[in-house]
Amino acid sequence: MAKFDHGVIEKNSILLLVLTLIVVSIGGLIEIVPTFLIKTTIEDVKGMRPYSPLELKGRDIYVREGCYLCHSQMVRSLRSEVERYGHYSLAAESMYDHPFQWGSKRTGPDLSRVGGKYSDEWHRLHMANPRALVPESVMPGYPFLAKRPLDYKNIENDLRALRVTGVPYTDEAIANAKADLQAQVNPDADTEGLTARYPKAVIRDFDSDPKTISELDALVAYLQMLGTLVDFNAHDSADFSQ
Ligand code: HEC
Repeated sequence: MAKFDHGVIEKNSILLLVLTLIVVSIGGLIEIVPTFLIKTTIEDVKGMRPYSPLELKGRDIYVREGCYLCHSQMVRSLRSEVERYGHYSLAAESMYDHPFQWGSKRTGPDLSRVGGKYSDEWHRLHMANPRALVPESVMPGYPFLAKRPLDYKNIENDLRALRVTGVPYTDEAIANAKADLQAQVNPDADTEGLTARYPKAVIRDFDSDPKTISELDALVAYLQMLGTLVDFNAHDSADFSQ
């Protein structure tokens, strides 16, 4: 059997170059090709649903007021974070966020699990004047939110636009957007359709003013749902509590 002479490659720079490129591209292909073949990198998580129309409007106000400048919405998978805020964030939890609110600045605490932590009344007082509840707080007050009626005349278009980006709002959800928004602040309304479309939607008069749907109603509805959709006891993943 003829012995392979490695010297042939070493003395021929073009051949060496061609063979080097072939070898290097094998490594590259192994890394790149699978990313084109998989359908999604977001694991399927039970409980995630698009925002209800009222929560969506609250989220718009959150973005408009720049709350993200001081608050993140992503729990990192570090022990200190998990002990303080709860289960680390999953990609699926922000898959309907356009744009996402992960953030990197925390003048105030992370808010991705704040839903249910406080009462609506706490939020009402805190948004009006944070120092009334937390004397050392540096958060600005937003007392005007309670006085401003919520502008939701184009809510159907908001849902339609999000559908273009891949949020699965149905025709039925779009047709009922206004009614669903109004029903969520009115515990006496017929809320069957709302809860069927948006399971776990919290239905309350968030700003305790039944006469108007205010911007505060929407913002508190949004804050009260954050982190409440996924049941982490049922979710199979690493447990940091041991
Ligand atoms: C200048 C920075 C800053 C901005 C802007 C800001 N916050 Fe805060 N926020 C803080 C700080 C600091 C705290 C902690 C002290 C406190 O509770 O007031 C806080 C606390 C909170 C809490 C309580 C969190 C917890 O787990 O105790 C909520 C809810 C909250 N902010 C919501 C908002 C919303 C909604 C907005 C936008 C309308 C906003 N914040 C804007 C700094 C800010």
